Amino acid sequence: MSAPIKPATAEAITEAADILRRGGLVAMPTETVYGLAADAANADAVARLYAAKGRPSFNPLIAHVTGPKMAKTVAEWPELGAKLAGTYWPGPLTLVLPKKPDAAIADIANAGLDSLALRAPAHPAARALLAEFGKPLVAPSANPSGSISPTTARHVADGLGDKVDLILDGGACPVGVESTVVAIDGDTAILLRPGGLDRVQIEPITGPLARPDADAPLASPGMLKSHYAPDARVRLNATEKRPGELLIGFGEIGGDLNLSETGDLAEAATRLFAALREIDSRHPDAIAVAPIPERGLGEAINDRLQRAAAPKD
Ligand code: TXA
Ligand code: MG
Repeated sequence: MSAPIKPATAEAITEAADILRRGGLVAMPTETVYGLAADAANADAVARLYAAKGRPSFNPLIAHVTGPKMAKTVAEWPELGAKLAGTYWPGPLTLVLPKKPDAAIADIANAGLDSLALRAPAHPAARALLAEFGKPLVAPSANPSGSISPTTARHVADGLGDKVDLILDGGACPVGVESTVVAIDGDTAILLRPGGLDRVQIEPITGPLARPDADAPLASPGMLKSHYAPDARVRLNATEKRPGELLIGFGEIGGDLNLSETGDLAEAATRLFAALREIDSRHPDAIAVAPIPERGLGEAINDRLQRAAAPKD
C-alpha cells in the first residue's frame, strides 16, 4: 500500500513527528531534493531506512538539524565550520565534522565513521519538522539507491511509496540538486560533493577548496560512479540528436525539453532531475544531453550528469 501524501500543514507535521518518534520513516521536502527522514538516534529506524532505499550501509547519512545549536550537541564545532554555517545555514551546504564520541547518533547512521555530516535545511516544512521533533533527523534523498533523486512528492511516491509511512508535500524543490558537501579538517575545507551552493560562494571564506584524497578517511564514501541513473543510456555534450534519441537541451540547443532557454544554470539545476525522469518515461534508445558550462551550479549539474552517464555494473 502506498503511503499517504499530505500537504505539509502544521497538523501533518505533528503527525510526522509522532511517526518519527515511533521509529517510522517520513519523506520531507527540503530546498534541494526530498529527503527520507528517520530518528538519527534510533538504530532500528535507521536500519529500516537503509533497507527501504536498498542503500549500502557503508554509505553514511547526513544528520539534519535546526541550526548550529543542535549541531553542536553531536559534532565538534571548529571555527571554519562555524563561519560557513553562520553564512550559509539554513541552506544547501552540508558540513562533515568530527563526531562527538557521546553523540546521540546511531553508529549505523554514519557508517561507524569518526565524522558526521550535518546540514540545516532551509525549506520551511523541513525546519518545522526538525523544530517539532527536537533532535537530529538523518535524511538521504528519498529515492531507491542509484536512481534519480526526487524533487516532488509524486517522485517519492513513484520510487518508495510502499516503503515509507508518510510523504509530506511541500511542492517542487527550488534548488533541485543535493547540497554541497564540504569536509572541515582544521583550516582546510575539502569539497566532497559539488551541489546547490556553488564554490564561488564558499571559497571567499575557506580559500580554494581542496580535492578529496581518494585514500583519506574523509573521502565521500557514497560518491559511487554510477548514480542518478535513468533506465536509458545517457550521452553527454550532444549538440544534436541521433536516431532513437531524445535530447535534453540547454540555452540555444533546444532539444525535446530544455533545462533553461535563457542559459540560466540555477533554473537548469531546478529542472534537471524532473527532466531526466520525464525523458526517460518516454523510453528512448538513449538520452542525449546538451553541453552544460562548468561554471557556478554547472559543476553540480555536470557531476550528476556524469554519474547518470557512467556505465552501470
Ligand atoms: O541535499 C541533500 O544533501 C539531500 C537532502 C535530503 O538533504 N540529502 C542527500 O543525502 O543528498 P544523500 O544521503 O543522498 O547524500 C549524502 C552524501 C553522500 O555522498 C555521503 O557519502 C556523504 O554525503 N556523507 C555523509 N556522511 C559523510 C561522512 N561522515 N563523511 C563523508 N561523506 C559523508
Ligand atoms: Mg542520494
